[in-house]
Amino acid sequence: MRTIDWRGDHVVIIDQTRLPHELVQAELRTVPELVEAIRSLAVRGAPALGVAGALGVALAAVTTPERIAEAAVAVRGARPTAVNLAWGVDRVLARLPEGPAAVVVEAVEVLEEDARLNRALGSRGASWLLERLPSPVNALTHCNAGALACVEWGTALGVLRSLHERQALGHVYADETRPLLQGVRITAWELAGMEVPHTVVVDSAGPSVIANGLVGAVVVGADRIAANGDVVNKVGTYPLALAAARAGIPFVVAAPESTIDMGTPDGRGVPIEVRSADEVLTWRGQRIAPAATQALNYAFDITPADLVSAIVTEARVLEPAAGRGPGDPA
Ligand code: MRU
Repeated sequence: MRTIDWRGDHVVIIDQTRLPHELVQAELRTVPELVEAIRSLAVRGAPALGVAGALGVALAAVTTPERIAEAAVAVRGARPTAVNLAWGVDRVLARLPEGPAAVVVEAVEVLEEDARLNRALGSRGASWLLERLPSPVNALTHCNAGALACVEWGTALGVLRSLHERQALGHVYADETRPLLQGVRITAWELAGMEVPHTVVVDSAGPSVIANGLVGAVVVGADRIAANGDVVNKVGTYPLALAAARAGIPFVVAAPESTIDMGTPDGRGVPIEVRSADEVLTWRGQRIAPAATQALNYAFDITPADLVSAIVTEARVLEPAAGRGPGDPA
């Protein structure tokens, strides 16, 4: 079952708010339904958001063709940080002069491309790690950069999946990923499905897992990579990069080329989503903090390029910490 798919005149997604208890699909038949699914993280993860952006324009083309431009603005603005969302919208919108049918064809191509390229990315990342680390590789990951963050296969988890295919994956540590728990709910669900031995730790324990020598590498995804190689990913990624540098182990970012934003010189230019304080201050609908307490709910953080050992895409491996970032001469 794909994370997100096109059914001729509507979008179907796996509703990730219901995992791991229920594996259910949701049909999205209007642009507002799609926008709400993005905002509520029913569909999430940068590559899946790129596809959602593309399919959002296709949905507008078949449901409200007279209001495609307006719909594109709404989809583009549903979440600010993952550049893939705007990239997917813009790529499909560029075909609009050829008519609504061309828009749908392009959106479906974005979908199919994502499924293809993640396998290439995963294999390249696995090879990069095996050139540097003994097999089997133990790794730490954060949030969910798996099949459920893409159409299928995954980016960071796609690298681990490729290692597993080669029988070169040992134990995986997954941060739980407060406050929406993508690690313990979704990554752990994927690892269990792959029959990979895995352990969940609270986010603040991630650096200790590294310092204690339990893993040979940190492998994460990205929502946006700036031209200088700064990496924006789920909040809690930056401390892992600091700990990896201190321990002398590789900090690897796996992401498609569409996540690299050459229009943003460095991480400071990336809009960081700040989500509702309620996500932090309540638990299962119950407030857990005093009434006067506020929360600052950053959804993402910025890892400086000099802490990033490798950025693995479907096309290449960049090594920002060694001065070979996206904007550096090849
Ligand atoms: O808020 P989310 O769950 O959409 O955040 C997702 C992440 O931070 C992922 O690591 C990133 O999008 C890469 S997914 C391949």
